[in-house]
Amino acid sequence: MNKDFLALSDWSLEDLESIFSLTRELKQKQKEGTPHQRLKGQTLGMIFEKSSTRTRVSFEVGMFQLGGHGLFLHSGTTQMGRGEPIKDTARVMSGYCDGVMARTYSHAALEEFAEHSYVPVINGLSDLYHPCQLVADMFTVTEHKEDYRNLKYCWIGDGNNMANSWINAAAITGFELRIATPKGYEPDSSIVSLAEKAGARIVLSNDPREAAEGVDVVTTDVWASMGHEAEQKERMKAFSGFQVNSSLLGLADPEAIVLHCLPAHRDEEITDEVVEGSQAVIFDEAENRLHVQKAIMTSLMER
Ligand code: CP
Ligand code: NVA
Repeated sequence: MNKDFLALSDWSLEDLESIFSLTRELKQKQKEGTPHQRLKGQTLGMIFEKSSTRTRVSFEVGMFQLGGHGLFLHSGTTQMGRGEPIKDTARVMSGYCDGVMARTYSHAALEEFAEHSYVPVINGLSDLYHPCQLVADMFTVTEHKEDYRNLKYCWIGDGNNMANSWINAAAITGFELRIATPKGYEPDSSIVSLAEKAGARIVLSNDPREAAEGVDVVTTDVWASMGHEAEQKERMKAFSGFQVNSSLLGLADPEAIVLHCLPAHRDEEITDEVVEGSQAVIFDEAENRLHVQKAIMTSLMER
């Protein structure tokens, strides 16, 4: 496994499945109340350029449960926010912390941080990817379905950091991924072609109904990601036919499950009815962020 986890493309299928099995073990121990302090005395520095509920809380609680400490830093209150070079911050933080998780706008900045950091760096979301979320999403599918690699998945909505991560996931696992976006909001074409070269089965379209036909997993995300709030109005128009609602879900397999990384804008990209419906596994998915990230941190940081 690489020193860092910045994108799912850093991992092989074996890496992914070893994280699933460690996640199962740690989740079981947590539920039983068995102590499992595998990062005792260690500190994870957590740098946030953007807001967060799930990522911050699950990493911080995860470090506590592993016997360590999660140190929250809002980048705006650090010297990095005043222009201290990333490479200096990375080296300084490496001297104090045993690992760093960062949520950034620029993915290149995260890569630069990782390049200069002596300790593992984990992507807690960048404009390009949200890999920890994807591992939690796929892990959630393994809990609800027999063979997660032999299913059909559809992504409805924006070709954003989550969509790009699903594309990376399709390259590792080989599952069929259909992506329906409005014209002009397709995922990063270089990520799609790299994934296809690696054997991913990806079907891009501008038709959500075609994408949802017979699938086992339906997933979506907000129409305006963090950093795109100013485009909210025009995006509302462009995405108006791309809502995950009961009519769209009715086209999927009757046993299909619904994922959403949250936060959701109910009755925009997904209806309240679907979020609260029996096919949604969205809150299992959110809980699994904790268990999955404990496994990721343990794999990267345990001595
Ligand atoms: N899904 C997710 O990353 O949520 P937060 O923005 O609350 O961390
Ligand atoms: N695509 C969303 C995910 C939030 C967890 C964003 O980047 O804002």
